[in-house]
Amino acid sequence: DLGEYRHFMLKEIFEQPQSVAATLEGRLAADHVLPCLHGVSDALERLAQVDEVQIIACGTSYHAGLVGRYWIEANTDIPCQVEVASEYRYRRQPPRKNLLFVTISQSGETADTLAALEKIKENHGSLATLTICNVAESSLIRESDLALMTVAGPEIGVASTKAFTTQLVALQLLMVLLMQAKGADAGKIAKIVDDLRKLPALIEQALDLNATIEKLAEHFIEKHHALFLGRGELYPIAMEGALKLKEISYIHAEAYPAGELKHGPLALVDSEMPIVTVAPNTALLEKLKSNLEEVRSRGGVLYVFADREAHIQEADNLHVLEMPHVPELLAPIVYTLPLQLLSYHVAVQKGTDVDKPRNLAKSVTVE
Ligand code: M6R
Repeated sequence: DLGEYRHFMLKEIFEQPQSVAATLEGRLAADHVLPCLHGVSDALERLAQVDEVQIIACGTSYHAGLVGRYWIEANTDIPCQVEVASEYRYRRQPPRKNLLFVTISQSGETADTLAALEKIKENHGSLATLTICNVAESSLIRESDLALMTVAGPEIGVASTKAFTTQLVALQLLMVLLMQAKGADAGKIAKIVDDLRKLPALIEQALDLNATIEKLAEHFIEKHHALFLGRGELYPIAMEGALKLKEISYIHAEAYPAGELKHGPLALVDSEMPIVTVAPNTALLEKLKSNLEEVRSRGGVLYVFADREAHIQEADNLHVLEMPHVPELLAPIVYTLPLQLLSYHVAVQKGTDVDKPRNLAKSVTVE
């Protein structure tokens, strides 16, 4: 049922305060994360032994995994690798010690992800396999030792939205469970838990930009290419923004870590290729600002989603869209929202089939 919404995608974008709250519900104590993994009974003992994490997923779920790597490596001493399932499943991997093998999937039925899980179980094994998934009765859940459920509710739109942000929430929960298992600083954990509680309200605030973004979308409908920039854990969010735009508006979009520009893509910059940037107030903000100048001085037109405390000044060819101030660890989640809205409004204005884009299926159960 679409209710007041014109498309499932828009409905699902607006459901995110609730789906994120539902994914957190019953999982946070006052100052720590409660055990929220289902499956084998010695889950916490196994987490304490983890020496490495390998994340496997496809598409949007892969982008969630990339953010997860930044988070896990920034807050634990556990190295984390991330790879798309279709590559991982066909190459040799050296044996790893005490590996936590994590698959991420909305549907739990993606053929390549399932094959990667089967491969690790058949070959050198792992300490534990864990699936972050939105469908409890799915194949990936059945085949994994442990499940960490996202509580997004059914996602109908082919373009994944609320599944992605709830996957990011699940990855934060997993990160904190690993921190707890490894005896990390209690104060640091309490602060993360405290911040997580603010998330639904911050998402609500990001959604307030909807009307502004609808107008902004007019700048994109005649374009053939767009560039998305981010740094650090916002780089995968730029990748997700580019995927959304490609998927439903059929505009060619690419994402780059902003520091890579001068190694090639700067040659593409002209007034015909809009450049979308996500700029929360993180440690890398000053570096990002100088990357923006590099682009602007070459005639690029920039649309920057920026923390209202980041003090990025509007200028010729530099449009600033103010975002709420967010704790650094929550920025990738909150900054996803405006990029979802942007791709949605561009697609609607171009008249594409938003919920069922051409050539794509909701669940990719064949290789
Ligand atoms: O169900 P899964 O999360 O395993 O699906 C993975 C991808 O097929 C999926 O995220 C796809 O990239 C979406 N259409 C992106 O919006």
